[in-house]
Amino acid sequence: MRILGIETSCDETAAAIVDDGRTIVSSVVQTQIDIHKVFGGVVPEVAARSHLEVILPVIEETLQKANTSWEGIDAIGVTYAPGLVGSLLIGTLAARTLSLLKNIPLYPVHHVEGHVYANFLLEKAPEFPLLALIVSGGHSQLVLFHSHGDYELLGQTQDDAVGEAFDKVAKILGLPYPGGPSIAAAALKGDPRAFVLPKAKLQSPYDFSFSGLKTAVLRRVQAEAGVAIDFPSFELAARLDEATRNDFAASFQHIAIETLVDKTMAAYKQFSPRSVVIAGGVAASQELRRQLSERLPLAIAYPDSSLCTDNAAMIASLAYYYAQQHEPIDPRNLEVVPSLSMRNTAWASTPH
Ligand code: KG4
Ligand code: ZN
Repeated sequence: MRILGIETSCDETAAAIVDDGRTIVSSVVQTQIDIHKVFGGVVPEVAARSHLEVILPVIEETLQKANTSWEGIDAIGVTYAPGLVGSLLIGTLAARTLSLLKNIPLYPVHHVEGHVYANFLLEKAPEFPLLALIVSGGHSQLVLFHSHGDYELLGQTQDDAVGEAFDKVAKILGLPYPGGPSIAAAALKGDPRAFVLPKAKLQSPYDFSFSGLKTAVLRRVQAEAGVAIDFPSFELAARLDEATRNDFAASFQHIAIETLVDKTMAAYKQFSPRSVVIAGGVAASQELRRQLSERLPLAIAYPDSSLCTDNAAMIASLAYYYAQQHEPIDPRNLEVVPSLSMRNTAWASTPH
């Protein structure tokens, strides 16, 4: 089954063709990072307009690269939730229109579930029960999959997502957006033990909280810079020398990643899954990969970084497994759901 995946939930316009949920035939990702960089974060209206400009060329390029005509596409899978409403609308409208015009079955895909399926594009597919650490700009959660579509949400963030914390701390330190890669680069030159930062203590062992850590960084930076707590945060970075900035990046990254790995290890010990996977933009972190491989008594394979950040190959993969259990949706009835979390033991992909 050859599936065209379409993804526009945030600031990447992406399309991909994947065979039987496992083999990437072609994948195109057009990122808007340079457009949003000047604002220090994603501007929703600008994102929607950019998706509109490139969605059709991106889909065309994906078909061309796969050397496939529309007759060769068996189904379309599209991200319909969660994400920015204007961005989701562009991708779903394109998918719905193409499904109707070309008479191709359409399957709705949940973006956060989709991130986990980047791991099904690896040479060896993960096995169930599967423990997934899903960490992106909008999500931090631990999910235990019993099989495709049958999962338990073990815990999630109570405030900021970990990627969001990377982005906000980068802003405080005057490092460019997105924060994950720029903090990782600065951290290479810094000392992770330079600043002792707190780990949040929560009632549930699998829940996360990162806003306290972000505030702790802000307060330490203010103290280092010798300014009061009401000093404008956008002027702070100019008062840090490069070595101190690198030390902050390394110390923050170390503690944020260690927190993720602590919780993953606790869940691993309690549930004894056959596979552990990491998913979402923060899964691109080399520090996360290093710390997890070091502590996990299980061989773990990591998807290429380009499959951890937003892409459509993961969406096409999930659409394949979803299609094994569900009828396609009537393209006239597909609506976007901007804030739909993964729920316990049900495909969040089910739109009704
Ligand atoms: O999954 P994604 O591309 O978009 C969302 O669905 O949110 O994740 C983007 C997030 C950003 O917060 C970015 O800072 C973070 O992933 N990220 C990283 C790294 N690369 C991207 N965080 C830590 N280390 C990285 N190397
Ligand atoms: Zn994402």
